[in-house]
Amino acid sequence: MEIARLDCGDDVYSGVPPLNRSGFEELAERYDTDFTTTPVGSALRRIVWARLENVFQPSQRILELGCGTGEDAVRLARGGIDVVATDASPAMLAVAREKARRAGCLERTDFQCIPIEAVGRVLQGQRFDGVFSNFGALNCVRDLSSLSADLSHLVRVNGALVWVVMGRSYAADWFNRSPRTLAALTRLEELAQGSSALASWSDHYLLEARRSATPAG
Ligand SMILES: C[S@@+](CC[C@H](N)C(=O)[O-])C[C@H]1O[C@@H](n2cnc3c(N)ncnc32)[C@H](O)[C@@H]1O
Repeated sequence: MEIARLDCGDDVYSGVPPLNRSGFEELAERYDTDFTTTPVGSALRRIVWARLENVFQPSQRILELGCGTGEDAVRLARGGIDVVATDASPAMLAVAREKARRAGCLERTDFQCIPIEAVGRVLQGQRFDGVFSNFGALNCVRDLSSLSADLSHLVRVNGALVWVVMGRSYAADWFNRSPRTLAALTRLEELAQGSSALASWSDHYLLEARRSATPAG
């Protein structure tokens, strides 16, 4: 497997361990077809959006980590939220910017090429009402305690943190071939919201917290 830094520029990468490229750069053009618009991708995202709408409010300023093709940033922006959406993949960000342009919400979205490991340094001095990361971007990060220390400086007291992380046994292919089973299970999940398992069939977990009064580190 190739280990390489994505091309965010040397300044941004200083002090950041090499990103495990894992094909995200190559995936960008077909990510929405392969995941976002599949039955599993859209069912999961609907559940995440329902949670986000309870947590983030119009006119807030939110930091997104690992925004990919910008599906969530555009959704939040359409709801009147300002989003600084970051990713380490220039190709993902190019798709995201074009999506925001087509949706007419470039003014509320600010897409920046920043590895998660560098947000503390690059965005130093900025303040956000909350931070969000969807569908496993945080699974790519080795040192979550250092990220947590960075966020304690970037997010205001009592600001919300919403992370969707992946487990080990994601059965997307099977459920994409069984849309009726998926629809039935999704309806059950929607009735049973409130647990950290985003959907029991998907092995994704939604972690929600608030920034406490004492910054770490
Ligand atoms: C599975 S995709 C999820 C994308 C998006 N959040 C979504 O909901 O569709 C993971 C994303 O994390 C990004 N990523 C992986 N490692 C990263 C890192 N260390 N810093 C920033 N972004 C990273 C990838 O480029 C990719 O866009």
